[in-house]
Amino acid sequence: MGKNTQVYLVGGISALGGLLFGYDTGVMSSILEMEYWKEYFHHPGSIGVGVIVSLLTAGCFVGSICAGWLADRYSRKITIMMACVVFTLGASIQCGSRNRAMLICGRFIAGLGVGVLSMTVPVFQSEIAPPEIRGRLVSLQQWAITWGLLIAFWIDYGCHFIKSDASWRIPIGIQIVPAAILFFSMIFMPFSPRWLIDHDRTEEARKVLARLRANGDISAPEVIKELEEIKEAVRIDRETAVRSYSELLRVPIRRRVVLGVLIQALQQLTGINVIMYYAASIFKQSGLTGDNSSLLAQGINGVVNMLATIPAILWVDRWGRRKTLMFGALGCGVTYFIQAVATGATQNKTYDENGDVNLNMPKGPSYLVIVMMYLFVVSFAMSWGPIGWIYPSEIFPMRIRSKANSITTASNWLFNFIIGLVAPILIKRITWGLDLIFTVIMFITVFIIFFFFPETKGRSLEDMEVIFSGSVWANKDKKRIEEYDDTIKHNIVEKSSV
Ligand code: BGC
Repeated sequence: MGKNTQVYLVGGISALGGLLFGYDTGVMSSILEMEYWKEYFHHPGSIGVGVIVSLLTAGCFVGSICAGWLADRYSRKITIMMACVVFTLGASIQCGSRNRAMLICGRFIAGLGVGVLSMTVPVFQSEIAPPEIRGRLVSLQQWAITWGLLIAFWIDYGCHFIKSDASWRIPIGIQIVPAAILFFSMIFMPFSPRWLIDHDRTEEARKVLARLRANGDISAPEVIKELEEIKEAVRIDRETAVRSYSELLRVPIRRRVVLGVLIQALQQLTGINVIMYYAASIFKQSGLTGDNSSLLAQGINGVVNMLATIPAILWVDRWGRRKTLMFGALGCGVTYFIQAVATGATQNKTYDENGDVNLNMPKGPSYLVIVMMYLFVVSFAMSWGPIGWIYPSEIFPMRIRSKANSITTASNWLFNFIIGLVAPILIKRITWGLDLIFTVIMFITVFIIFFFFPETKGRSLEDMEVIFSGSVWANKDKKRIEEYDDTIKHNIVEKSSV
């Protein structure tokens, strides 16, 4: 068996959590337009629709906050399984909804499950991965998110031809299948070796590491070495640590909490979900008339998002986190800027009888805007999509990792919620002004990454203590880290010559 086959298998299966995340986020957008759904729920107005859509995000927010405690207490593995059960309950309630209250409740409960998964899966993946493929492994969850969004779109599309309530009940109900697959496969997956050691289950941890690193050979040198490193880190943790949420506000963890919260907020402030949630209406605004063409453009958008995540899976561990984030933000900023200019210079805004905006742009600029939107999605998918989740999952010490990640993940859902709420209003009111706002945010983001975010690629989780113990100005801290690397090399040479 290949060296990392087991790691990929375990990481890949847990990534199914991302599939549920993406699917549930995407599934409502086309259902909202389905005749049978509107009829059944008595044509909800914009507030009703807003509540139905955003209650999922609210559930995710609450779920991610609870996940920190659960994943520490009951393990990452069992927490993922619990989330599947909660998610299935939520999806079943939605699928069998007899009224709006049931639908809303179901959305919230499914959201709790998605929120727990969105925090626990990357932490679990990051804890089982060897440093050199950690970024890739966590990117698998992002890839699964993009597949979830994509599959949801096309299942909705297929089902909108059905002439009964099944048109919306099927797409909602079908997500129970991957949840069940994830639940049952997790039974056969190992516990995180780091969590086991932290719970004094060292012998089990040894076996898990052997399974993940050396085809089950518990005496393999790499197994012994990693076990010792983790044990040592946990020992130091116990001597120094407080282990409560209050530690998140104290030095030396505070800096990492700020960076983790910031990176997750900035991921949402790229505006990705303005496109993910409202692409069809933006395409329509820009001149793609006819329901089918704007829907199709949205479907293509999902494919672009999924395909453009592949380079990140392959190379994020080579490109590094800093450079990729800076290029990603630059790419997003430039594409927004071109959209702002093309729209601002040529729009001739009118409102139709439903109050929807029509920009009446000439064909050329309107196609340019659509191409730029796709290029924006490419920039996001190759950088901020995966790294937004990778970075927080790898920077915290064991004792506080899952609590800290529950806070950083909650920041992602909070900003997701805010953007989902205000974007439709701004799209109508200020059209290209919104592109300009995002342009500015993205350009500022390039500098934020440059000045404050240390590089973490290829580092062991135990190394992070050193990486984050220097100056807050990440750009000025290179020399110290090079010196640290030299000391390690020196020690290794000394040990091997003894
Ligand atoms: C984000 C989601 C977004 C998705 C799009 C994820 O990383 O957290 O909010 O919808 O990427 O691919």
